[in-house]
Amino acid sequence: VPGDLHDRLAALVHDVPDYPQPGVTFKDITPLLADAQAFALTVEHLVERADTPIDLVVGMEARGFILGAPVAVGLGAGFVPVRKEGKLPRATLSGAYDLEYGSAVLEVHPDTIPDGSRILVVDDVLATGGTAAATVELLESAGGVVVGLAFLMELTALGGRARLAGRELDVLLSY
Ligand code: PRP
Repeated sequence: VPGDLHDRLAALVHDVPDYPQPGVTFKDITPLLADAQAFALTVEHLVERADTPIDLVVGMEARGFILGAPVAVGLGAGFVPVRKEGKLPRATLSGAYDLEYGSAVLEVHPDTIPDGSRILVVDDVLATGGTAAATVELLESAGGVVVGLAFLMELTALGGRARLAGRELDVLLSY
């Protein structure tokens, strides 16, 4: 990412101490999303760096939807949501993933993923990588081909990159 773009976007990500728990600093992207130019530059950048052609962009609930949908339009691709358990109305494929305490389930409508579709996965944050790794597994068991993953930011200390070894990763901001 060019230094000026990096600094401009980074200045719009606000640190929120002790949220959602004491000792955790939350990275709030809402100021970046509310800035018309910064939001457009973020989306343009993710679109430009994608390994085209891309058939489908997949975003994970909820913040992955915000970035994934405009990236899909920019790439001329469709958009597929990966949702938390119980939100999708038709036949789903589901996969469990570990959280810090316990586990959670992600779901997708597999009939929205034609066999061999070239997929770009988009989310706001790569932290432990649990969400992204579970999403890749889900999409590939549905018959898709994940050609890359793109994140607005990566929290490097949490080691998510290691869980996506061998995958093409695009990250705009690293912390
Ligand atoms: C956040 C974030 C990523 C995920 C990253 O979503 O948007 O999807 O966590 O964490 P991981 O790499 O450790 O899996 P969250 O589950 O908080 O849901 P939200 O977008 O609905 O707030």
